[in-house]
Amino acid sequence: MNDYNVTSLREDFPILGRKVYGRPLVYLDNTATSQTPRQVVDEIVGMYYNTKANVHRGVHTLSQEATELQELSREKVRRFINAPSTESIIFTRGTTEAINLVAASYGELLDDGDEIILSVMEHHANIVPWQLLRQRKKVVIKVVPMRPDGSLDMDAYRALFNERTRVVSICHVSNVLGTVNPVKQIIDEAHRHGAIAVIDGAQAVSHLKVDVTALDADFYAFSAHKMYGPTGIGVLYGRPALLEKMPPYQGGGEMIGHVTFKHTTFAELPFKFEAGTPDFVGIAAFSKAIDYIDSIGIEAIAAHEHNLLSYTTSRMMEIEGMRIFGTAPGKAAIISFLVGNEHHYDMGMLLDKLGIAVRTGHHCAQPLMETLGVEGTVRASFALYNTREEADAFIAALNRVIPMLG
Ligand code: ALA
Repeated sequence: MNDYNVTSLREDFPILGRKVYGRPLVYLDNTATSQTPRQVVDEIVGMYYNTKANVHRGVHTLSQEATELQELSREKVRRFINAPSTESIIFTRGTTEAINLVAASYGELLDDGDEIILSVMEHHANIVPWQLLRQRKKVVIKVVPMRPDGSLDMDAYRALFNERTRVVSICHVSNVLGTVNPVKQIIDEAHRHGAIAVIDGAQAVSHLKVDVTALDADFYAFSAHKMYGPTGIGVLYGRPALLEKMPPYQGGGEMIGHVTFKHTTFAELPFKFEAGTPDFVGIAAFSKAIDYIDSIGIEAIAAHEHNLLSYTTSRMMEIEGMRIFGTAPGKAAIISFLVGNEHHYDMGMLLDKLGIAVRTGHHCAQPLMETLGVEGTVRASFALYNTREEADAFIAALNRVIPMLG
């Protein structure tokens, strides 16, 4: 990547210049949240200073401008994932809310005894909403196991289908293992059995090109904050024909057609699923994050991250007792690991003292931890602004803290 100028990209992220315990911050917790460039922050500030007015509610200029900015962002999101229409793009508070929306609302269309397929590597956000549904309807949840390298066992997946299978809900990229699941095959198999496919794309959208039309996904959920955008904004892409059939998720302003005490009609898509005042400032600023990714190119970002992944992985493997969880081919730049019997939390604390930000714990994936036979891991994850020097600093810090723990 000769023209990938990471030094100049880093200048867009003021936070990367700060120090932690007197040392330069090495931010390797991008899977939890990525940092935000000036271009996005400036849009947030600019809107608060110039264009803050409620959307879709006023005839006045400010309201119209704010509405236009929100709807331009919807169009930008549509284009980014190649969705067929803006009516299929619903803004939510995040991936979690997007999946809860599908489980609660599409769940209303399911019957007792219907079956839902999840995978062992799901984030709690793609497990618990379906369990909540199971408390209301007697749906059956089945789980796809994985192979030792952290890839999904596709034979086992195919064997889970029967005539009651109605929903498959699986992550595109594992937030722990980095595994990139074969979602096209997963979706096609679901459709062959008359089931719908929900994809948790939270860890995919900033690392690889996502095309919901080519994938033929029924639902695809993701969050802005993991793709250099603001916090508290998510997207649910939904197939319009399904969204039309589904009942509203929440009631309130904006999602109605006409309200009387006897009867209420609902708004057209996508507004039927957007009750209340949205974070229209965040939504508008999200479009700047998409512009930012587009200006670099998702393929260039992916190549940069893969270089860092393979370099860091090979340096880590030189460390005695290193165990990396998730080694599937083509994985994303997420490295979960343990060293010997050292506790993940102690290691994370000591790394922090050296300025290295990693996540420790179960990563909201306790069933996966159980399968791996561990309580938690340390996780380092990369983004477009990380450098080889940071990878070296991480390795040096590991080599320093391991003897302290032993
Ligand atoms: N889902 C985020 C993570 O994996 C928070 O860290």
